[in-house]
Amino acid sequence: MKIGIIGSGDVGLRLGSGCLDLGHHVMIGTRNSEKKEVQEWLQNSKHRERAFIGTFAESSAFGEIIILSTLWSGTENAINLALPSNFKDKIVIDTTNPLDFSNQGSPKLAVGFDTSAGEIIQSILDNSLVVKAFNIIGNQHMVKPSFQCNPPTMFICGNSEEAKKIVAEKIITPLGWESIDIGKMDKSRLLEPLAMIWIEYYFKTGKGDHAFKLLKK
Ligand SMILES: NC(=O)c1ccc[n+]([C@@H]2O[C@H](COP(=O)([O-])OP(=O)(O)OC[C@H]3O[C@@H](n4cnc5c(N)ncnc54)[C@H](OP(=O)(O)O)[C@@H]3O)[C@@H](O)[C@H]2O)c1
Repeated sequence: MKIGIIGSGDVGLRLGSGCLDLGHHVMIGTRNSEKKEVQEWLQNSKHRERAFIGTFAESSAFGEIIILSTLWSGTENAINLALPSNFKDKIVIDTTNPLDFSNQGSPKLAVGFDTSAGEIIQSILDNSLVVKAFNIIGNQHMVKPSFQCNPPTMFICGNSEEAKKIVAEKIITPLGWESIDIGKMDKSRLLEPLAMIWIEYYFKTGKGDHAFKLLKK
């Protein structure tokens, strides 16, 4: 499939490489295609014939599935630059966490309890099928995670059953995860605080080598 990625931070580039490894065509969307990390991603790609760089709008137009991997505070601007009409009727994977970095130390959630980043993005992109995924793991382990008790769990949520099924089948499971659907997009109110547990443990230990696993009898 064609995957358009909005945002060229660690998450966008990591999932971009992972999707290329799965055989997808990938365009990284960025506001600055000359950025060193983006150019290195392209040069070092094992699958250059399927790897592309574009603007946010080019990437959203390119993608049959769009991955939104933007800093929370820049997310609405990024969607506007990417042109909301390019997202119409498409699956959008929301990886964001609504982090507020205004205090020293570990970040806080900027929204919660009565809404979530996932719901805000779904309401902005009201013609798209948004699936929350990949927000509960550090980018280093998003692709082919290797832990005790593999595979770790990727909890997902979203309003479209079909979109969640496609994202699980085409991306999450082949990347090495057990995908568990926990419900509609309002369950993002649970997944974003869950990411905070991952983040707090990261700040406590200084290591990002942990993941979640739902244990079953
Ligand atoms: N880092 C992780 O391990 C991790 C893990 C799970 C979830 N997340 C979440 O996933 C998202 C992406 O994480 P990241 O670490 O890759 O983020 P990041 O490096 O902080 O930002 C990603 C991209 O957001 C875009 N961006 C930033 N400010 C913007 C603005 N004002 N307008 C438009 N675009 C803007 C930039 O795109 P360009 O530079 O390409 O223009 C930037 O490269 C975040 O919401 C984060 O909380 C991160």
